[in-house]
Amino acid sequence: MNLPARVTLVEVGPRDGLQNEKQTIPLAAKLQLIDDLAGAGHTVIEAGSFVNPKWVPQMADSEAVFAGIERRPGVRYTALTPNLQGFERAVAAGADEVAIFAAASESFSHKNINCSIAESLQRFTAVMAAAGERGMPVRGYVSCVLGCPYEGEISPQAVASVTAELLAMGCYEVSLGDTIGSGTAGSMQRLLDVLLSRFGAGQLAVHCHDTYGQALSNILVALQNGIATVDSSLAGLGGCPYARGASGNVATEDVVYMLNGLGITTGLDLDALVRAGNRISGVLGRPNGSRTATALDLKSA
Ligand code: HMG
Ligand code: MG
Repeated sequence: MNLPARVTLVEVGPRDGLQNEKQTIPLAAKLQLIDDLAGAGHTVIEAGSFVNPKWVPQMADSEAVFAGIERRPGVRYTALTPNLQGFERAVAAGADEVAIFAAASESFSHKNINCSIAESLQRFTAVMAAAGERGMPVRGYVSCVLGCPYEGEISPQAVASVTAELLAMGCYEVSLGDTIGSGTAGSMQRLLDVLLSRFGAGQLAVHCHDTYGQALSNILVALQNGIATVDSSLAGLGGCPYARGASGNVATEDVVYMLNGLGITTGLDLDALVRAGNRISGVLGRPNGSRTATALDLKSA
């Protein structure tokens, strides 16, 4: 198999994992989670988002989160920013990097960020200009790359066109969001056939929600195509508030278990991740959503 020797996991648990939680999560628990993730070896942690707090109340304390992080050397603490206002908040809060987020589906774009795809790209141009002045790296997301909760199937060409725009405006990488987790190894391969004819594997990451239990096989397909950056969420936390029924991202522990089995280096300590996932699951009052964590816990019980 042609696989990368090393994979970077982008940990989105503190943002994608927690954004949909209805209960108020104490700031201290968020900070503990972020510190646990860094302690387990993560080098990129999406710690919050600077969106309209009326839309996503759980992320309203992102300023306080960033102020409270005990920064560890070599770790990038990143945030989502939907517009210039969000970018300015992120800069003031001390984010190391930001991400702009577009969609390959018009309906999802309207539901998620209240504007068309074209309008969103216009807004992002302003964010890119401001980020450029500060030399701040910007990541791009494209949602609904393998299906939309409102429109169903999405064509690879639609994904390619938004990806091209984000890369052309200066995003260093575009993360391909299977927002509702409906993709399969087949649809992921068909998407990558189109994308990799236009972009390098090094410009792409995958962001697989696990709603249909397909995330690991979709990630494996991405790895076989040379993609070496994978988003994941500790304990499989999360879901998008604007994609009803979508479950969390693939669990970080499950991805690390698979990568360990493939002999791929991640720099992550699986036992430390399991402890961290158990801790945040305890705060949320639910079982750990990672199959690997559950199996390892049963084995050591
Ligand atoms: P809008 O209401 O159209 O914004 O929201 P607006 O420009 O008309 O402003 C309305 C009000 O919002 C104003 O306040 C603004 O100040 C305020 P008012 O005058 O009414 O008091 N406002 C803000 N406040 C704080 N921070 C800001 C901000 N911007 C405006 N940045 C907007 C447009 C994009 C802001 C809104 O739709 C929004 O916040 N959307 C974010 C939704 C979200 O966070 N979704 C989840 C993350 S995306 C995701 O999960 C997918 C991903 O994981 C990949 C995948 O899985 O596919 C990334
Ligand atoms: Mg997501």
